[in-house]
Amino acid sequence: MALPRRSKRNLKICCGASAIGLIILVVVSVTLVFTVFKPKDPLIKPLPAKLENVQFQLFPTLSLNATMGINATIYNRNYGGFQFKNSTTFVDYRGMNIAAIPLEEGSVPARGKLNISTIANITAEKLVTSPYFWQDFGSGRLNFTSTANLHGKAVVLNVFKFDAKVFSTCDISVQVLSQEVDVDCTAKLKL
Ligand SMILES: *[C@@H]1O[C@H](CO)[C@@H](O)[C@H](O)[C@H]1NC(C)=O
Ligand SMILES: *[C@@H]1O[C@H](CO)[C@@H](O)[C@H](O)[C@H]1NC(C)=O
Ligand SMILES: *[C@@H]1O[C@H](CO)[C@@H](O)[C@H](O)[C@H]1NC(C)=O
Ligand SMILES: *[C@@H]1O[C@H](CO)[C@@H](O)[C@H](O)[C@H]1NC(C)=O
Ligand SMILES: *[C@@H]1O[C@H](CO)[C@@H](O)[C@H](O)[C@H]1NC(C)=O
Ligand SMILES: *[C@@H]1O[C@H](CO)[C@@H](O)[C@H](O)[C@H]1NC(C)=O
Repeated sequence: MALPRRSKRNLKICCGASAIGLIILVVVSVTLVFTVFKPKDPLIKPLPAKLENVQFQLFPTLSLNATMGINATIYNRNYGGFQFKNSTTFVDYRGMNIAAIPLEEGSVPARGKLNISTIANITAEKLVTSPYFWQDFGSGRLNFTSTANLHGKAVVLNVFKFDAKVFSTCDISVQVLSQEVDVDCTAKLKL
């Protein structure tokens, strides 16, 4: 039953080679998973914005109507695309919800980007109920936060689908006099 010597040696070389190959494959895969394919948070870059359609009246009662249109580009740095369902962006002032903006379903391609545009209607009615309003108004800046939780799927190589969620938060700061709007967003991806 004993194999001829040469054949035995070939077997050893062969197995040694495939073991080394296997180790290299594992090392490369693990490295890829933890570097290239490691899920990265999306980046959200808002465009400069201004309040529009501002209608303001101080007497006899304070009345303020304005629209705040914010456009942003979502950059997906992952090797998988992200498809999300219809959702709602909530705009809060000092912890109080003042606007809800529908956000239509969409997808951000792998290593790609998506432009989104949102319009929030701002009215003073709710703002003045906050004890901070006059103080903030006097200081010349009104700060808002917007939050959106996008539920959807991460799609890798058009085959693998995972449930995925993106939680995004934006700090929105409105300069009362110039009506300029500064926006700063962060997003987190959860698989
Ligand atoms: C946002 O985009 C829409 C169209 O996509 C455009 O009409 C609007 O002027 C843009 N607004 C800003 C503030 O860039
Ligand atoms: C703001 O809108 C409300 C309701 O649409 C209206 O009654 C009010 O007159 C508007 N305020 C101004 C300053 O135009
Ligand atoms: C998402 O919203 C759009 C427009 O509001 C609607 O046409 C579509 O049916 C909605 N999709 C789902 C899955 O509800
Ligand atoms: C904002 O107001 C406009 C005009 O009144 C209306 O068409 C739009 O649906 C409002 N948007 C939201 C998110 O309530
Ligand atoms: C997305 O927004 C950027 C920045 O405003 C613009 O350069 C680009 O053309 C837009 N892309 C699409 C598809 O609308
Ligand atoms: C509003 O935001 C601006 C810039 O993000 C910050 O400098 C300022 O302190 C904030 N004001 C309040 C009252 O939180």
